[in-house]
Amino acid sequence: MKRPLNNDLSAHDVVIDHQMCTDCHGQNPHDFETYNEHAGFVSCTACHARTEKTAAIRDFAVVVPPDPNNPLSIYSVGISDATPDYKVSFAWFDGSVGPENKPRGARGDGKSRIYPYKPVGMNLPRDADGNVIPPRWDSFFKTGNMMDALAQGRSEYAALWTPEIGAKYGLPPVPGEFDHFAASESGFSISHGITRKNAYKCASCHNPAGVMDFEKLGYSEEKSESLENLLGLPPVGDLNGDGKIDAFDLLIFQNYWHGNQDAMLKALKNNQ
Ligand code: HEC
Ligand code: HEC
Ligand code: HEC
Repeated sequence: MKRPLNNDLSAHDVVIDHQMCTDCHGQNPHDFETYNEHAGFVSCTACHARTEKTAAIRDFAVVVPPDPNNPLSIYSVGISDATPDYKVSFAWFDGSVGPENKPRGARGDGKSRIYPYKPVGMNLPRDADGNVIPPRWDSFFKTGNMMDALAQGRSEYAALWTPEIGAKYGLPPVPGEFDHFAASESGFSISHGITRKNAYKCASCHNPAGVMDFEKLGYSEEKSESLENLLGLPPVGDLNGDGKIDAFDLLIFQNYWHGNQDAMLKALKNNQ
């Protein structure tokens, strides 16, 4: 079965993650139990995969001619760097992908965990109702004619698609003829750049300016606020005694959560 669009967000990421990280590292790779517990609802990669590269916009309306210096002489679609203030985003993912490569999944469905994504904008070809039309890529690569590639892709998709196949693989019905391009936000899953040193720690997430937008992930306003303030600024207090309660105090407190007394004492000592 052909996939309607090329994208690296596939259910395989979740299989590799579920089976392979824990295949080699076991279910409880951390001495510190809180991280092992979190792995039940946060994917390994959400904490461990860090990437600083910018997100990109793929613009299917822009045809880029073959690069004369590239032996692989093919046409391609426009790609540009998007947001310079790029941030990883997070979403619940149950291992299956919905229309336009959106991850499926929800909090509390018993099978999803939170995964990291690199947001990617795509300006996609659509029919009059906004349904995406899959191009026939090899034709486009050779000729650079997107309209021909869309007509071919559409008729091949129509020849393969049945309601049963649609239901089985979660594929959208056959789109109509090309009408316009319109953008959508999709995501590439992040699974490279595994790091131990830079893995997210308590205060990376449990902090009002943390990396996760808890409300966007489906937590109520109150729950989000409590998750953000879990480490509790007031009870943390002015641990280094510099007259302010700030991120540095959180870091010290975080080391405490890590059970790392040495690091905590060292941090305190260095900042007195
Ligand atoms: C094929 C086996 C295998 C798989 C799959 C695997 N790892 Fe590893 N990983 C290793 C080995 C071996 C090491 C090195 C251990 C050492 O040096 O003590 C390691 C090291 C690490 C470290 C420590 C790195 C450091 O700088 O000390 C982290 C963190 C880690 N892996 C996380 C992951 C995550 C997350 C995944 C899944 C995305 C994963 N690993 C998948 C085998 C694997
Ligand atoms: C909530 C965040 C979080 C999650 C989820 C998480 N880790 Fe970690 N992991 C960390 C942090 C932080 C460290 C570094 C701890 C330290 O050095 O104090 C770490 C350390 C490690 C290490 C090095 C262990 C050691 O003691 O040398 C491995 C291996 C590892 N993680 C694998 C995994 C795997 C596999 C998963 C998924 C089953 C996973 N982690 C899920 C945050 C996380
Ligand atoms: C990658 C982000 C991330 C990191 C890092 C992280 N957490 Fe969490 N934590 C979460 C999320 C998301 C939840 C909510 C889980 C749920 O109930 O759905 C949570 C829940 C919790 C809860 C339960 C709170 C409640 O009210 O349900 C505690 C306690 C907690 N975390 C402590 C910690 C500690 C301590 C650390 C560091 C050792 C840590 N967390 C690191 C994301 C993170």
